[in-house]
Amino acid sequence: MADTSAQARHVAIIMDGNGRWAKRRHLPRALGHQRGVEAVRTLVRGLAETGIECLTLYAFSSENWKRPGEEVDDLMNLMRKFVKSDLPEFIANDVKLKIIGDWQGLAHDIVEMLEDALAKTSGGTRTLAVALNYGSQQEIARAAAKAAGGGEITPETIAAHLDTADLPPLDLLIRTSGEVRLSNFLLWQAAYAEMIFVDTLWPDFTPEHLQEALDEFARRERRYGGR
Ligand code: FPP
Repeated sequence: MADTSAQARHVAIIMDGNGRWAKRRHLPRALGHQRGVEAVRTLVRGLAETGIECLTLYAFSSENWKRPGEEVDDLMNLMRKFVKSDLPEFIANDVKLKIIGDWQGLAHDIVEMLEDALAKTSGGTRTLAVALNYGSQQEIARAAAKAAGGGEITPETIAAHLDTADLPPLDLLIRTSGEVRLSNFLLWQAAYAEMIFVDTLWPDFTPEHLQEALDEFARRERRYGGR
């Protein structure tokens, strides 16, 4: 059965290329990440105009701990600053924050900050889901263990225990910076998602780039295995 609905409800992005963006300009990597946050802020501000119900961003993977301690600290500090400074805007713009991944294992102050932000944005109509300390294989293993506790393991019982269980099905997955792989992101959820890989480095990714991807999505015919 072909799907004729052209509006993507759930879009996920692998935000890649901050380091290369900085390197090309002979700037520190931290500045690339900083500009990456700016790109996130601009997209979230324009979320309502896109018609997207849920935007899921891969901010920190369970494998990112392997990076030098200083870079991990930079990323965590950017997260602290971003949530603190933008929380009032989320609330004003009806953006509901959601966190996926093993985020309870992050620093205590971040966990507290996120719990507060989740509570204060719970009435929002559009979701910004941020993947933090996220690994898809780990998420599937956790979901399978929970499903097994309930008795039966089926695709449905696993899906019901994924971190994304309350989100719309993933329609579109975008990766920036020219890399073509999933890097342990939303492996289960991507089963029938459309994928778009763009060369743009993440700090250069604008709402216009997102709109181009949404237009490309609308042109594709999704068959879900049917014909
Ligand atoms: C990839 O760039 C990006 C990341 C590892 C982290 C993405 C994080 C942000 C955009 C900032 C934090 C996000 C929020 C929501 C506050 P890379 O360093 O792998 O780039 P490279 O492949 O060019 O080295």
